[in-house]
Amino acid sequence: MPAELYRDDHHACYMFSDLIDEGEDAVQANQFLIIDHDRGAIIDPGGNIAFNELFLGMTRHFSPQKLSYLVASHADPDIIASLDRWLTSTSAQLVISRVWERFVPHFAKSGKTQERMIPVSDAGGRLPLGESELWILPAHFLHAEGNFHFYDPVSRILFTGDLGVSMTTGAQALRPVRELQPHLPLMEGFHRRYMVSNKVLRLWAKMARQLEISMLVPQHGAPITGAQAIADFFDWVESLQCGIDLFDQSNYQLPTAAIGALRPARR
Ligand SMILES: [Fe+2]
Ligand SMILES: [Fe+2]
Repeated sequence: MPAELYRDDHHACYMFSDLIDEGEDAVQANQFLIIDHDRGAIIDPGGNIAFNELFLGMTRHFSPQKLSYLVASHADPDIIASLDRWLTSTSAQLVISRVWERFVPHFAKSGKTQERMIPVSDAGGRLPLGESELWILPAHFLHAEGNFHFYDPVSRILFTGDLGVSMTTGAQALRPVRELQPHLPLMEGFHRRYMVSNKVLRLWAKMARQLEISMLVPQHGAPITGAQAIADFFDWVESLQCGIDLFDQSNYQLPTAAIGALRPARR
């Protein structure tokens, strides 16, 4: 069952958080359906593991024929590996960074992405959806080189892709975080390794602080909501040292240890 993040007579935002079995090796991931005046967009549709249930779940709220867009924050497998099946099952267009325009066709059968792609330049833009629009905001290097966040001006939700993620179960992801401090241990390790640099986080925060935000909703783990928790999140990312800030010569040594032992199966 998806969580209803927002709904009024003409507009709705749904979050699917539990389409990946907890026994899977794959990381928990959220997928989103935004509907405005009977037109829809899926944000970060995910990989093949999520496809069947997401497609079915979507049809309970919305006809797949009315899906206008698949909107991808970046081109990782947990974001868009299901592309081929979405292109087959709907007439939606893929909206993705121009940086990935010639790489994502590798996720689909030959020629299938032709005429189905809207490549977005680094500056982002405003994408018409129904009678509203989805703002496509620059979030490059957070973490991918070509990376966007999505702001819905009706619900005032900012969808932040891999920024703000926490490592949780699908059930935990349904509980919005209202106090940031106890939540930090679930976020820190990921952000230190996957976000590229403090400089980029500060540039992003200065841009995003201009928005009126009801909720920050990441692609893994729980949404962050409430004015205090959102303000604390901005403060936290602005002070976070991560990625290349933390790498030095010790991270670039010729290796000596053997690899190749199979990991024991997870239960
Ligand atoms: Fe990613
Ligand atoms: Fe991700």
